[in-house]
Amino acid sequence: MARIARLRDDLINKIAAGEVVERPASVVKELVENSLDAGARTVQVALEGGGLQRIVISDDGHGMGREDAVLCLERHATSKLRELDDLHSLASKGFRGEALPAIAAVSHFTLHTAEPGAEVGTRVTVEGGAPPQVEDAPPRVGTVMTVEDLFYNTPARLKFMRRGETELKHVEEAVIRIALAHPEVSFLVEHGGLPLFTSPACPDDPTERIAAALGADVHPHLFPVEERRLDISVTGYIASPEYTLPTARGIYTFVNRRYVRDRGVIGAIQRAYQEYLPSGRQPLVVLFLEVDPQAVDVNVHPQKLEVRFSDSRGVYDAVLAAIVRTLRAAPWLGAAPQEADPKRQAAHYAQAVERFLTRAQEAAWGAPMPLPLAADAPSMGAPPPPVPMGRAPAFGQALPQLNEAPPPGYFGALRPLGLLGGRFHVCEGPGGTLVVLDPHAALERARLMDFHRLMEEGKGPTPSLFGTTVDLPLPAARALMGGREALARLGFDVEPFGGTSFALKSVPPGLEGVEPRKLLEALAHALPPPGTALDAVGLAEALRVMACHAAQGSADKLTDAQLRGLLAELDRADFHPTCRHGTVVVLEMPLLELERRAR
Ligand SMILES: Nc1ncnc2c1ncn2[C@@H]1O[C@H](COP(=O)(O)OP(=O)(O)OP(=O)(O)O)[C@@H](O)[C@H]1O
Ligand SMILES: [Mg+2]
Repeated sequence: MARIARLRDDLINKIAAGEVVERPASVVKELVENSLDAGARTVQVALEGGGLQRIVISDDGHGMGREDAVLCLERHATSKLRELDDLHSLASKGFRGEALPAIAAVSHFTLHTAEPGAEVGTRVTVEGGAPPQVEDAPPRVGTVMTVEDLFYNTPARLKFMRRGETELKHVEEAVIRIALAHPEVSFLVEHGGLPLFTSPACPDDPTERIAAALGADVHPHLFPVEERRLDISVTGYIASPEYTLPTARGIYTFVNRRYVRDRGVIGAIQRAYQEYLPSGRQPLVVLFLEVDPQAVDVNVHPQKLEVRFSDSRGVYDAVLAAIVRTLRAAPWLGAAPQEADPKRQAAHYAQAVERFLTRAQEAAWGAPMPLPLAADAPSMGAPPPPVPMGRAPAFGQALPQLNEAPPPGYFGALRPLGLLGGRFHVCEGPGGTLVVLDPHAALERARLMDFHRLMEEGKGPTPSLFGTTVDLPLPAARALMGGREALARLGFDVEPFGGTSFALKSVPPGLEGVEPRKLLEALAHALPPPGTALDAVGLAEALRVMACHAAQGSADKLTDAQLRGLLAELDRADFHPTCRHGTVVVLEMPLLELERRAR
């Protein structure tokens, strides 16, 4: 008796589904990609139960006639490829003709479609890979695909599904990846009837899409990149180095508008940013590579998440060059300061001080030397300048990027002279030195010490009575959902309040007066990825964010008495060299030496 038997089609489809349809997010990815391939201008995604219960994708694309509507559910049936060579001139996302039969094999599946102008439409129903039922349906524009009870007939796979909440996050990420590459298409995503992600078409300004997908707070930090070569073009947007993330999840790379993770491309991006970012921080980058389809193989990964370049070195070089050019030009330094953005304002003042001090040095030595300022200013993105030989470095100049311990009583001995640029306190320091104090950095440092002390005492901050609801952008809401445990450890009591809203019930002492939305948004970016515990690095980063917000605002209007109090606090602060999470508080210039040389 023969040992070998041909598998039934429904079984083959179920096996294939194991590769293509990993979770609800893969269904959404495949169906939305089909909608785009059909020329849709609007794509709607409605979900129930994190997509496990129900996924409905509606589009206004070219739809299908009856014959195609039935054929599309057969394995290897596609309108996108006829010959192997077509792979080298592919403009569509799909080409294998396997997604729909795979999805229909592991769900209750319905499609309703019609061709433009048709008098009658078609509804096709498939129950877990059984033969399709076809019937007349009202005519409509485009196609609706409904996927219910995903994996109901593959219990092994169903067991691997996470909570609806987690699956939903994967779905959102899948939509964001597609939406970033298609600003000309409108996207509407809802879950349980509540909108999750809404982004109207914005073909003229792709940064609007980036802001809708990745958070409005990134928008002012985005700058274009462009590198056009004979065989490759690299375009897109990168965030200036002052906007960083704890993980590489803000790096989105696309090859011919297909979202792709490529180690070489990501390596080139990280290499470009290397000297601009503090260690452990990652940039936000949305990058589009256009390459000749002949020079890239898109058929190397079951979910098409990887490609193979014929000239991977050339790709690496082009990406590196594109990003380095923008980083070197540092367009954010020339940008007009925006009142609403304190970071921008800080950068503006930091430059003013830098220019002032550089001019003073030029006058004295005839050669400019870049000067470091507060670590949160973009001018600190570059590594600290070397201290010239043969001259004893003053405090703050020797290790300006660290918080080197000053001599005891250093801050209390400073004699305030006045304000520079309306923000920095210029003081006379010990031994005739010019000391520029960044009050925001100083306050942040003091608050950071408070928060550290509370955590070290083991009590954690005592929650205070507080109560407000906050609506967050989608990415921040997602991060917060996954990081609620970490937040509780930090002394926050935050509860989901439906959609992207949260009820903030208590905050740690010292944060009562801060703008809750901004604080939560910033914390969301600092939290570890969902499912990851808050480690020492994460904790330090979260405390730094809290300290930064606790200091916000109050630094602008320090009275003389408050300044004295702050200086005394700094003398008590722990500037232990191993604690590098506070920003640099002062910059010191050896003024007397300057005068002596100028004579
Ligand atoms: N929303 C839609 N509107 C119009 N036609 C569609 C739509 N979705 C699918 N189709 C048609 O059904 C065919 C099969 O879709 P399916 O996703 O299974 O394969 P594919 O997109 O060709 O390749 P891949 O498996 O790589 O995605 C497509 O080639 C397309 O012609
Ligand atoms: Mg497809």
